Amino acid sequence: MSKEFKRFLVTAALPYANGPKHIGHLAGAYIPSDVYVRYMRSIGKDVVFVCGSDEHGTAIPNQALKENTTPKAIIDKYDAQIKDCFHQLGMSFDIYHRTSEPIHHETSQEIFLNLFNKGLLTEEISEQYYDDQANVFLADRYIIGTCPKCANPNAYGDQCERCGSTLSPRELINPKSTLTGNAPILKSTKHWYLPLQNYEGWLTDWILKSHKDDWKVNVYGQCKSWIDAGLQPRAMTRDLDWGIKVPLPDAEGKVLYVWFDAPIGYISATRALFKELEENKLQFATPQRDFKNPKSNDWKPYWQDGDTKLIHFVGKDNIVFHCIIFPIILKAAGEYILPENVPANEFMNLEGDKMSTSRGWSIEMHEYLADFPDKPDVLRYALLTNLPETKDSEFTWKDFQAKNNNELVAIFGNFVNRALVLTQKYFDNKIPSRCALSEIDQKVINDMKELPDKIGASIQAYRFREATAQVMDLARLGNKYLAETEPWKLAKTDLEKVGTILNISLQIAANLSIVVEPFLPFTAQKLRAMLNFQQLDWSKAGAADLLNAEHSLGVASLLFEKIEDDVIEKQIKKLLDSKKAMELASQPVTPSKAEITFDDFSKMDIRVGTILSAERVEKSKKLLKLQVDTGIDKRTVMSGIAEHFSPEQLVGKQVTILVNLAPRKIMGVESQGMILMAEDKDGKLRLLQPNESVSPGSTVS
Ligand code: MF3
Ligand code: ZN
Repeated sequence: MSKEFKRFLVTAALPYANGPKHIGHLAGAYIPSDVYVRYMRSIGKDVVFVCGSDEHGTAIPNQALKENTTPKAIIDKYDAQIKDCFHQLGMSFDIYHRTSEPIHHETSQEIFLNLFNKGLLTEEISEQYYDDQANVFLADRYIIGTCPKCANPNAYGDQCERCGSTLSPRELINPKSTLTGNAPILKSTKHWYLPLQNYEGWLTDWILKSHKDDWKVNVYGQCKSWIDAGLQPRAMTRDLDWGIKVPLPDAEGKVLYVWFDAPIGYISATRALFKELEENKLQFATPQRDFKNPKSNDWKPYWQDGDTKLIHFVGKDNIVFHCIIFPIILKAAGEYILPENVPANEFMNLEGDKMSTSRGWSIEMHEYLADFPDKPDVLRYALLTNLPETKDSEFTWKDFQAKNNNELVAIFGNFVNRALVLTQKYFDNKIPSRCALSEIDQKVINDMKELPDKIGASIQAYRFREATAQVMDLARLGNKYLAETEPWKLAKTDLEKVGTILNISLQIAANLSIVVEPFLPFTAQKLRAMLNFQQLDWSKAGAADLLNAEHSLGVASLLFEKIEDDVIEKQIKKLLDSKKAMELASQPVTPSKAEITFDDFSKMDIRVGTILSAERVEKSKKLLKLQVDTGIDKRTVMSGIAEHFSPEQLVGKQVTILVNLAPRKIMGVESQGMILMAEDKDGKLRLLQPNESVSPGSTVS
């Protein structure tokens, strides 16, 4: 018998507010957690669901450096962007908090001091990498180098994003400072460590013995290999000027390690939730449920009462922090409950390659929403049916299109639309009553009855793909029922029978509106409006009498629309372009040439001219023969641009031309000048044109 919990505290990993987040993040932690929580709410459980921005760590000042701004500006920008995207995607957090909030600084410092005062932290002086030129210690992501495990040349000091290994700076081969690009030197500094090895016995009992059967294989496996390899003391502080100050007198210039403070952010968010509820000024969306007479101290049972089930939803790179390090912190702090489960997902790849914002190979949430503002549920569906639950999965735009067109439109939407339109047509938009049931009617009712429990069981077992398929099975059931009974053909001969079929179909639709809600909340809402059916009580789902005869329906509209090929092709092109742009941006620019004097420069006579004609040159792939009106004269210029421009593209264009270059014979033709071009890092040429048209012969200087 599994334990009955009184309440649930569900967390979704706090995203770093250092940049936009992509659909891989959604598939890892966010969409699954939202489905879970919406379902738990609909079966009447007491759930608190928290998330927020992770605003510390070296990732933030590093990004500030790249964007040439301050860390504070970075977190404000991305916190707002990420929060807004989550809202548009239907993430139903009770609160979306920030680790830069004072209440979080207090909570983290309190817990740090608690451990310190109990003597549970060790103080050690060690040699750390230091940038001699910038005069700072280089924590974690301020160092990059080659990964010792997979040879990725851009691994960070704490982690390799290519192979997923957790690293320490000293393991990197050829380390470099991200600040100056210099090789760092070693310098000694004092830090406070959490002796993880002291908790090995306890972890073995808690995870390896107690959670062998209920944790996912991928999660359990990672924990086991960590514990088997032997745990090491881990520094809980860093030399950095961005973060939460270490609350000790001799800790000038030191802050808490981001992986110490960030998970404590879940606790701070819960505290903030009840504080804001009590003060009646909750921020994120609307409160997701009615907290009856909330008091600021009500956060405590969610974290301190053994009757609370704590669940962390994360991606696989977060497993060790949520299963080993944070639980050790909670255990050492005392008074806190531990996670009952950490249903981490693996990674979602994209069109055959790893997803990565920095490599331009990703679909960012805000970009998806800008391109498909009315389709949050289509993305949710495409991700849910393809979650990396047991192994890495892959998102492709073609699959996205197929899921939409062949499943959401052709099955779900089609079924609902047929049931509603026929009811409008034959029964004045009111639910017809049922008469005697045929075998096929009875079978559909029986099949429908079983599905909600199956769906619920899958959700509770964190099998969201399976659960999504079961929801679609209900729509399939309805679609098949209509296809088999063909009420549109019966209308002329047996309207009573048509009424029975539509009544049953609409019961299926009402059931769908309940069970699809955790998965596709916007669709559920739309469907409920169309059915004029507001209740959302999972315990009623499965019943064939959710809608009474004579009940008036709302206005029917299409739930989903077909996505055409050109839309998908545009997205694929966009992806390829952004990857290319990132590749170019990361290539070094051509170094500057040797200095010249103003006199050297002024010897050149550069003019704006107009291309009068252009033709290909026989036997040459590269050359075009141009006639140019230079304002001074009309002359012939041979230009090596045939691979970049067609003759038609050039005629009539203004260009810049060096007119006093000594004439040269090229392929037997005298070329009298040179057209100036901008050459990109990939060798692609573009014309240099005045930003407004000018008269031929205008000088350039
Ligand atoms: N910001 C981390 C990441 O994106 C996740 C932090 S989860 C928390 O990988 F537990 F620390 F909050
Ligand atoms: Zn690696």
